[in-house]
Amino acid sequence: MTYKVGILGLGTVGTGVAKILQDPIGRHPLLPEIKIARVGVRSLNKQRDVAIAPDLITDNLESIVNDPAIDIVVELIGGIEPAKSLILKAIANGKHIVTANKAVIARHGSEIFTAAKQKGIYVMLEAAACGGIPVIQALKQSLGGNRISELTGIVNGTTNYILSRMYFEGADFAATLAEAQQLGYAEADPTADVDGFDAADKMAILASLAFGDRVKVEDIYREGIRSITSADIGYAKELGFTIKLLGIAKRPKTDGDSNLEIRVHPTLVPIQHPLANINGVTNAIRIEGDPIGEVVFSGPGAGSGATASAVVADIINVAAALKSMPNQINSLMGCSHEHYAKVAPIANTVAQFYVRLLTHDKAGVIGDLGTAFGKHSVSLNAILQKTTVHDGLAEIVVVTQKVSEFNLQAAIAAIHDLPTMHSIPTILRVL
Ligand SMILES: NC(=O)c1ccc[n+]([C@@H]2O[C@H](COP(=O)([O-])OP(=O)(O)OC[C@H]3O[C@@H](n4cnc5c(N)ncnc54)[C@H](OP(=O)(O)O)[C@@H]3O)[C@@H](O)[C@H]2O)c1
Repeated sequence: MTYKVGILGLGTVGTGVAKILQDPIGRHPLLPEIKIARVGVRSLNKQRDVAIAPDLITDNLESIVNDPAIDIVVELIGGIEPAKSLILKAIANGKHIVTANKAVIARHGSEIFTAAKQKGIYVMLEAAACGGIPVIQALKQSLGGNRISELTGIVNGTTNYILSRMYFEGADFAATLAEAQQLGYAEADPTADVDGFDAADKMAILASLAFGDRVKVEDIYREGIRSITSADIGYAKELGFTIKLLGIAKRPKTDGDSNLEIRVHPTLVPIQHPLANINGVTNAIRIEGDPIGEVVFSGPGAGSGATASAVVADIINVAAALKSMPNQINSLMGCSHEHYAKVAPIANTVAQFYVRLLTHDKAGVIGDLGTAFGKHSVSLNAILQKTTVHDGLAEIVVVTQKVSEFNLQAAIAAIHDLPTMHSIPTILRVL
């Protein structure tokens, strides 16, 4: 039996996938039965890093999704359009889908999975969250016996690279971003990564698999890392923390509360936590479930080979399912979610906070601060006061006890109005 694959996109990931499919020996025994039938690109004249017979390559991607000979369409062009329309057309034509496209799945997954369900089609997305780390399969299958209570992850390699360099070298954000761009770890337009959009897309996918309801990406509270300074990294270190951009998703703790907690923001992580030592472009996901307890996955979240590893695993899974049950859908591989999760507003969440304040260097500042925090039921865990002042200003860092976001924001509003206060450059949550 042969399974014919049409690959849309022959860039970083598409090239990695084609290389594996062309070199199947020593890998999964089903791979020799999987053949590249067509490859779609934008520019036919581009020099390619993999040899594909010229008659298989086309710039007419519609002709691939309409080709009756193709069983599986592998979408590796990225972005929303034309990816979304091509996926929907392929589904309408009865083709199974493998995609690495987190943006299209996080924003239009509902339409895509509804269409796929009606048609009895697989839509596989292992590579769409955390590249080479097999976390989707784990959530769908291997952890199926668990009630998952929490999923916390470093799901964006670019920001983890930047924050790791800032931590180890004391470098500034802007200089580190520029270097990451030179090395190809950050895009020319870094918005999707540094402002947390990419991480939010991945958390929407991971949380919906972990908690069993679809998650709208626009419901996820999101903050990026642009405001993190080398001063914050230094204070975090002094207090026993590192700073990571985390995606955090939690199941409601009480039966009466049906709201999920999902957020993406820079977070102070205690140095002994399993995610604290995940550095560079590496991704990691910590999952807490009953009865398994804690399980941590880590590995390459991006890159040609790592991402292709996940894409090819999905292709093999579809081919294996088609071989063993050609007229049925394997329910472990399909999407069964139909309802949207209710997501708690950020004001309802409870966390410890790190606050860096610049005050006028006058007597009584600490007392004023303590009173303002106390008035709003914000208890303090630690205070660092730097005697070094610049322009008549002193820097004070406080770490609170666990408090509600609502109370913290009320205290911050009151502190802003104190005559001794200059500014509050940074407010971060603590894991
Ligand atoms: N790169 C990674 O490490 C990584 C990791 C995880 C997930 N992903 C996801 O994988 C997907 C592919 O990423 P990538 O890095 O491989 O992208 P890429 O290197 O930019 O490659 C995109 C490919 O799609 C083709 N393409 C783009 N728009 C097209 C259009 N309108 N019509 C026809 N062809 C078009 C391009 O053709 P030309 O070659 O002719 O320009 C290129 O071959 C994205 O969804 C991305 O988010 C990537």
